Amino acid sequence: MSMSAAKPRILVARAIFPEVLDALSQHFDVESNQADVDWGPEELAQRLLDKDGALTTGSVRISAELLAACPRLRICANMAVGFNNFDVDAMTAAGVQGTNAPDVLTETTADFGFALLMATARRVTESEHYLRAGQWKRWRYDMFCGSDVHGATLGIIGMGRIGQAIARRGALGFGMQVIYHNRSRLDAATEATCGARYVDKETLLRTADHVVLVVPYSAASHHTIGAAELALMQPTATLVNIARGGVVDDAALAQALRERRIAAAGLDVFEGEPQVHPDLLTVPNVVLTPHIASATLRTRRAMAQLAADNLVDFFACGTVRTPINTPRPVARRA
Ligand code: GLV
Repeated sequence: MSMSAAKPRILVARAIFPEVLDALSQHFDVESNQADVDWGPEELAQRLLDKDGALTTGSVRISAELLAACPRLRICANMAVGFNNFDVDAMTAAGVQGTNAPDVLTETTADFGFALLMATARRVTESEHYLRAGQWKRWRYDMFCGSDVHGATLGIIGMGRIGQAIARRGALGFGMQVIYHNRSRLDAATEATCGARYVDKETLLRTADHVVLVVPYSAASHHTIGAAELALMQPTATLVNIARGGVVDDAALAQALRERRIAAAGLDVFEGEPQVHPDLLTVPNVVLTPHIASATLRTRRAMAQLAADNLVDFFACGTVRTPINTPRPVARRA
């Protein structure tokens, strides 16, 4: 008789680095999706029916209905720092551990926030389109004049790890005056390290030359920036969203950009992505990228590895590295 217990069964719901999949196979009975098929909610629930755990990405929705249909599931490890794809309350009530992938992406994502800020302020993609379209015939004194990043006032909404990393870049690298708004104020030592000063949201919107959004998405942060907030911003100001679609009212933003009520925007995330509001596709003064802020090979590997480590640790010793909830103990079917 074999002494080895059956391996836990996990579902890797999207395509993932093959080496991480191989490592998972040492510990688990793995069903994967290397073809990266878009499973709808019913197919996902069906595949999770006999699984003990799942490795998910931000596009995989773990809802109360799915949890009710999959009573065997005990952990969902998200390969993302954000976890608004999870119904965390329902997971907690169902005794399902959730984990995310923080820290390993902080500096990479801050780099991208800065890249988007610079591309937006200095009109990088708009001018590239002009060049590619063969419209560049000669130099002109005011051609694609943008606004300075160095020495400007940077307003950061959401001052977690990534917000702080952007603040340090602005203050230390670009001599910016950094102001921020957050649910709670940072302690004085952290403010000093970031070179950042706390202000209320209205002051930030009225004062900043460049506004960067880095808040997690929740009902409370839905449309943090809408028509009223855009109206407070300076006509020369820029707005960058690397947080989540839904933090900005994209229709209101497209209108403000068209009417030049703000100068420009840089967006890596969108309401209803991968759909993009059609009006954003027709205004020239917006830089659009397909949710790639954490996308360097090294960082994406580290995110996948952290999600895998959470699964391995959970089944080996019942603890995880980066929990997002404390699940209610519930009796489960073996
Ligand atoms: C990406 O958006 C993430 O939350 O990691």
